[in-house]
Amino acid sequence: MGMERKRKVSLFDVVDDTCVSAKRAKTNGFAVHGNGTNPLVNRWNGRPYSKRYLEILEKRKTLPVWHQKEEFLQALKANQTLILVGETGSGKTTQIPQFVLEAVELEIPDKRRKFMVACTQPRRVAAMSVSRRVAEEMDVNIGEEVGYSIRFEDCSSSRTVLKYLTDGTLLREAMADPLLERYKVIILDEAHERTLATDVLFGLLKEVLKNRPDLKLVVMSATLEAEKFQGYFYGAPLMKVPGRLHPVEIFYTEEPERDYLEAAIRTIMQIHMCEPPGDVLVFLTGEEEIEDACKKISKQVANAGDVYGPVKVVPLYSTLPPAMQQKIFDPAPPPVMVGGPPGRKIVVSTNVAETSLTIDGIVYVIDPGFSKQKVYNPRIRVESLLVSPISKASAHQRSGRAGRTQPGKCFRLYTEKSFNNDLQPQTYPEILRSNLANTVLTLKKLGIDDLVHFDFMDPPAPETLMRALEVLNYLGALDDDGNLTKLGEIMSEFPLDPQMAKMLVVSPEFNCSNEILSISAMLSNEDPAWCYENFINPRAMKAADNVREQLVRIMVRYNLKLCSTDFNSHDYYINIRKAMLAGYFMQVAHLERTGHYLTVKDKQVVHLHPSNCLNRKPEWVIYNEFVLTSRNFIRTVTDVHGEWILDIAPRYFDLENFPQCEAKRVLEKLCKKREREREESKN
Ligand code: CDP
Ligand code: MG
Repeated sequence: MGMERKRKVSLFDVVDDTCVSAKRAKTNGFAVHGNGTNPLVNRWNGRPYSKRYLEILEKRKTLPVWHQKEEFLQALKANQTLILVGETGSGKTTQIPQFVLEAVELEIPDKRRKFMVACTQPRRVAAMSVSRRVAEEMDVNIGEEVGYSIRFEDCSSSRTVLKYLTDGTLLREAMADPLLERYKVIILDEAHERTLATDVLFGLLKEVLKNRPDLKLVVMSATLEAEKFQGYFYGAPLMKVPGRLHPVEIFYTEEPERDYLEAAIRTIMQIHMCEPPGDVLVFLTGEEEIEDACKKISKQVANAGDVYGPVKVVPLYSTLPPAMQQKIFDPAPPPVMVGGPPGRKIVVSTNVAETSLTIDGIVYVIDPGFSKQKVYNPRIRVESLLVSPISKASAHQRSGRAGRTQPGKCFRLYTEKSFNNDLQPQTYPEILRSNLANTVLTLKKLGIDDLVHFDFMDPPAPETLMRALEVLNYLGALDDDGNLTKLGEIMSEFPLDPQMAKMLVVSPEFNCSNEILSISAMLSNEDPAWCYENFINPRAMKAADNVREQLVRIMVRYNLKLCSTDFNSHDYYINIRKAMLAGYFMQVAHLERTGHYLTVKDKQVVHLHPSNCLNRKPEWVIYNEFVLTSRNFIRTVTDVHGEWILDIAPRYFDLENFPQCEAKRVLEKLCKKREREREESKN
């Protein structure tokens, strides 16, 4: 880089990463060792490049974005905000941040000055997987020059110059560093996903850019909604990277399928037995379904016998551990014997493989037409993940995955008529389908008081915003004028739902913060159903322990006492349940005389989820999750007492202000009984 500086390279000048040093070494006739001017030495860590680096480099250079590298760097130099649209697999996520890094590094030749580039991803598994890949491409160790940061896991260091992070994590960082001063360039990737956090970042960064002329923003998207981004970002220039897609033949079913899982497995077997070589990608909706499908596929493949090639079935979903995530990039298994039928890889994935992760070698895509989507009904205050039909845009992206390396086939497990008539053109932005309590708390903490006039790309419904303000007010996080309270301030420090944060913050008052910490950590992790099937899952326990440690640190920072009630005390479990109620009093259900549970105030009939551990049906329960399926279930429940409800949340359960119902009558009776008792004790 030494020579570079002497040539006085101007701000964001265009230099080819790899050729420059090589050319220079030639023209100068000598090679300088150790400081990065040697083409064989990695300028990031001074180590010689590995053979693997040079191999990957050749492959990288064939990616479509490389043909527009100069154009991109010029545009970046000339503009504060830039929008980049390109087909999935064109190299946006892996290459563009490296181009940016190069430009920034040239601008700040002083190595001691800290600079960083951030690239957001809506999904944690994508942030982890892509950063690993880029670290490999740059020939550095993950967590050093290239790192990632996701909720509860920061794999970066003081050396990190390029950080992949979830959009939610960047939003959290903004709470401590409102102008995001550690970054020189921020790349919002997968903008077309329109996740809640990305949408909030849009509005936030628009403000930050005004206050920081030195900051640059690159918005990257896979679909053409980009014109909308352009309008939003004051007409920022739009750069298009043409994709290189092979034709994909699309097949529909003649009749609607009743069981898409069964239909998907049947289709996989047909492909495996009848179609030429090529890997298969199947889109399913979640961990449980995917694991179940993987087992069934492996079994059927084994039953089919040796006349067909060997098969490797790999799952992909967000809570999969990193080593397993890596397996999706492994090649298909080799033939069992020389000259035998070729092997096939079958990837069974959630939506993450739709645009976030590109797996080369996929020739067949199976699209059942569903994904898990967030839905929110502000009237009954229920947010739930619901398996719902995908949009046409999603279906298009999915089929495109079959044509990455050669012509492919996509099997849509629905009718063409259904595609044309039933699917929405686009998926609705998440902000229109979410409970906004958490977002509002974050925005308040960021000092944004006027939510109605906040520059949302798609403003949420006023009712949803009102509901969020109301919830935060009941929790005591906002006062009656909508200002953040001291309690709200502390709550916002926890990367948790407001209810859970409240439960933690008040747990010392119930002398059980140690236990509530453990409960919060367990609830913040993957579903521990594991206990039943496997006795104990060490990975889930480790993950929960790690989360707990981080929550402890926040507790200590805010002087919240770590304490427990004596385990032998009668109050041990009572205190824990009371603390839970202090957070979750808006999620109470009452057992009616009809034998059904009814959620209090919102009056929804709900059933205890079969996974519950209660050996009876208590009169009052609090729940952690409302699950919408064919019936309404409440999952992760525990019993509470009517008296506690009156004591712990008197404002919410103010009987003057309560719709007529059985729960109200019971609470009224309890109130009268208490009054009587109080009178009697006086006399
Ligand atoms: O972001 P975009 O969809 O435009 O592409 P990308 O994620 O940057 O992927 C570019 C190329 O890198 C694709 O051919 C991927 O298959 C490849 N890649 C890989 O081989 N291994 C990874 N872990 C990630 C990407
Ligand atoms: Mg990408």
